[in-house]
Amino acid sequence: MSHITFNENNRVFHIASHGMSYIMQLFKEDYLVHLYWGKEVKNYNDSFKVGLVDRAFSPNPNAEDRTFSLDTVPLEYPAFGNTDFRTPSIRLRMKDGTHITDFRYESHKIISGKEKLVGYGQTYADKEDVETLVITLKDTLYNLYLDLSYSVFNNYPILTRHSVIRNESEDTIYIEKLSSCNIDFRNENLELIHLSGAWGNERELTRQSIEKGNFIIDSKRGSSSHHHNPFVALVDKGTNETSGNAYALNLVYSGDFSSEIEKDSKGNIRTNMGLNPFTFTWKLDSKTQFSSPEVVMVFSSSGLGSLSRDLHHFYRHHLIRGNHQHKERPILINNWEATYFNFNEEKLKNLADVSSNLGIELFVLDDGWFGKRNNDDSSLGDWFVNREKLPNGLEGISDYVHKKNMSFGIWVEPEMISVNSELYNKHPEWCLQVEGRRKSESRNQLILDLANPQVCEYIYESMDSVLTSAKIDYIKWDMNRNMTEAYSLTLPYEQKLETAHRYIMGLYDVIERLTKKHPNVLFESCSGGGGRFDPGMLYFMPQVWTSDNTDAIARLAIQNGTSMAYPAISMGAHVSAIPNHQIQRVTDLKTRGDVAMAGTFGYELDLTQCTKEEQTEISQQVKEYKKLRHIVQFGDLYRLRYENNEVSWQFISEDKTEVLVTFVKKLGMAQEPFMRLKLDGLDESSLYQLDNKIFGGDELMNIGLDIPNMDGDFKTYQIYLKKVQTLK
Ligand code: DGJ
Repeated sequence: MSHITFNENNRVFHIASHGMSYIMQLFKEDYLVHLYWGKEVKNYNDSFKVGLVDRAFSPNPNAEDRTFSLDTVPLEYPAFGNTDFRTPSIRLRMKDGTHITDFRYESHKIISGKEKLVGYGQTYADKEDVETLVITLKDTLYNLYLDLSYSVFNNYPILTRHSVIRNESEDTIYIEKLSSCNIDFRNENLELIHLSGAWGNERELTRQSIEKGNFIIDSKRGSSSHHHNPFVALVDKGTNETSGNAYALNLVYSGDFSSEIEKDSKGNIRTNMGLNPFTFTWKLDSKTQFSSPEVVMVFSSSGLGSLSRDLHHFYRHHLIRGNHQHKERPILINNWEATYFNFNEEKLKNLADVSSNLGIELFVLDDGWFGKRNNDDSSLGDWFVNREKLPNGLEGISDYVHKKNMSFGIWVEPEMISVNSELYNKHPEWCLQVEGRRKSESRNQLILDLANPQVCEYIYESMDSVLTSAKIDYIKWDMNRNMTEAYSLTLPYEQKLETAHRYIMGLYDVIERLTKKHPNVLFESCSGGGGRFDPGMLYFMPQVWTSDNTDAIARLAIQNGTSMAYPAISMGAHVSAIPNHQIQRVTDLKTRGDVAMAGTFGYELDLTQCTKEEQTEISQQVKEYKKLRHIVQFGDLYRLRYENNEVSWQFISEDKTEVLVTFVKKLGMAQEPFMRLKLDGLDESSLYQLDNKIFGGDELMNIGLDIPNMDGDFKTYQIYLKKVQTLK
């Protein structure tokens, strides 16, 4: 159970949940200070004292007390210019032209349930499963209120936070920065983990020491991006998969974000996360309010494995929504790498015939079915079917596929516009741009201005009419470039810097309306692969195309890094052709299958060109995944090994009776050492069956299993175990 208390005597707020405590205190003249975040403290008796010392060059808000300076105090939500010189969480431009704010405690409330954040993706729970603390602070000069919101969920060491600024004054102010959270870690020896990458190489686990100074993980690309992910973890030195303290932040937002990590001269570490102030300013009129997106904060005292499992479980039950949330995801065939733009109805039907014979469940028609699109230089925005390629329309191919006992899906890229399109001819003013400046293209396309409600309406209407034009069960929603000249023509001078944020809110609104209207459609989000793999999108679309890089070995790093925060059920993973189209590597079909089975499985190659033997192997893989997918999609992940040459993942089913282990050896070598793998998370006093052998749970975890010798490069070994008996 979670609980939130406020102790009137020592003025301490204590938020506790599932082995985690988060403690704050009202200090001096109603400043809100941060005391602790970590393993649960059941009996807190004022052990944390805010240090008070007279320090040179740390000025004092109150001249009488030279020992007190905000510069040396751990603050819950710091501002700049009032004696604290470190990174602030908030920066407002006031009517007097200054940036000074001085927020002090005004009131608080503790409620059961969680208030809804208007327009954003967000976590949710039944009223009895979540409790919320809202601490209201007020500026000492102006009628401005800051509501800091904290929600804790039963059975999770997880806290979600967001901040709201309310302008009760008579004047307009400007928000230049409003973090979702800030944590002041006191003098702790922490390291930083984040997920960095690029196209085809997303979310590689990066671990580094934190040195004095400022370090920023961010995106200024208009989307959360391939390059950084809105996920950071701070961990004790030595923290690994199974032991050590880990603290992670994950922003529920799909646009520009930043997380600033500052180590000050005393070794204290300040970390925040929120909208990226670099590309954001918001005009806040009198009597209006603005909310930051939500950040999910998760703590583990037993390493990164349990941190990820808690997050996965939480996201599966309290972030992802809709009719597909708890449903097994279909095995799909996607025609992109099979045909690219070069297809016609005949070709698609042939692919559908073979796919259906192999047991595949969903046929996805990718890019190129609309307008005059035969390559990537035209037609985005013209969402009507290309009758030259598909004389019977989407309906014709959809009916055909359904008759083959498969469901049918299509690719769309609704946020984009090609200069070479009917839409651009009609509405050149509908794309992001700056009057008089060149509009930079990327992949021959511009970006529609989703900060303009008229454009959002167009996208909604055109997607709705596509969805109603044929039986469509699945949508792959792509976004293939980052933002430049990212300003809306519709916004006046003083609101231009709202564009990127308004774009994301417009996007969320369109998707919310479409998914409500078409609740049975499975939506998969994509941005050139995993360029927008974040909790914001997961709230609206339950799965994501993890990366355009489908090479099984490259996928090890991508899927491993992604699994730090995101559950396997959300990760699209496909078997593709060899030589691999992105990096030309050749791997066995078995290797490609085994690696892809650690996500939502599918194929992306021309199955009609596969040999009889390959087709037999594929139909075997399909059968196999149908038998195993509940373990991967609803089970718990244990990252058993992640080393240079060996990677191993283990999934345990939700009911804890079935286990799937995948072991990958990258390069072969002469005189290979004997390999042994210890499993994790099993019941010590149960017996498990592997083929026709029985092993003890303790035996598998303490002694481990022999991995057979596998000659050659890029080999995998997959095992399935079933619990057969629990010993007294
Ligand atoms: C980028 C996606 O990631 C690919 O899978 C494919 O859909 C192409 N776009 C199509 O243009």
